[in-house]
Amino acid sequence: MNDILQEQLAYYRARAAEYDEWFYRHGRYDRGAVLNQQWFAEAAQVRQALHQLPPQPSILELAPGTGIWTQELVKLGERITAVDASPEMVAINQVKVQSDAIEYIQDDLFEWHSPRQYDMVFFGFWLSHVPPEKLAGFLAMVSAALKPDGVLFMVDSRREPTSTADNHVLPDEGIRHERKLNDGSTYRIVKLFYEPEALQAAFAEAGIALSARFTETYFIYAQGRKA
Ligand SMILES: C[S@@+](CC[C@H](N)C(=O)[O-])C[C@H]1O[C@@H](n2cnc3c(N)ncnc32)[C@H](O)[C@@H]1O
Repeated sequence: MNDILQEQLAYYRARAAEYDEWFYRHGRYDRGAVLNQQWFAEAAQVRQALHQLPPQPSILELAPGTGIWTQELVKLGERITAVDASPEMVAINQVKVQSDAIEYIQDDLFEWHSPRQYDMVFFGFWLSHVPPEKLAGFLAMVSAALKPDGVLFMVDSRREPTSTADNHVLPDEGIRHERKLNDGSTYRIVKLFYEPEALQAAFAEAGIALSARFTETYFIYAQGRKA
């Protein structure tokens, strides 16, 4: 499994410059006006739920990537710590978000443990890349990084073929997916799709009471508190 996690990181490092095409529905991710509009409306629903939260003194963002959610978190948090293993992603994030309130840490989230606790932890489109045998350890790390009563917010993908590029095949079963870059190079990654109940149960094991829900087509998002 460690091989595939290394390949997954190599994929994101190589993909950094073209990553935003996915979220903004360009190129291979452009599924036509109707589905694109659906995607943007559902993303707005998640953003709106995030911005219902009260201001947070400190936020830990795990796997921030190019900053699609970091740019929202800087509106909510006084100080942000952002941990990602890809220097290419972090470089794009810094240019996009341009905030002195963010401390970037380059590290492997399967090894990293936070030396301090935060008022809030956020991760977007990351949990689906954590293999099942590493889920409990990852969530224990998240829980340890949260202050008592701290807030958890996450968003991720639903199982929906039009979510990804038009030349990606969504396997019928299994968690190994093949992904392509614009130059045609291929990588194997881990990708899981959670039901709200399964997500809630996994977080409960880590001491986080979570309320998870689907948007109509594309996303699952969840908010919770450490007990
Ligand atoms: C699907 S992207 C999510 C980015 C961002 N949160 C978003 O919602 O657009 C996954 C991110 O995880 C990072 N990543 C992959 N493997 C990692 C690892 N082992 N440790 C830390 N970050 C990793 C990648 O560099 C990438 O930025």
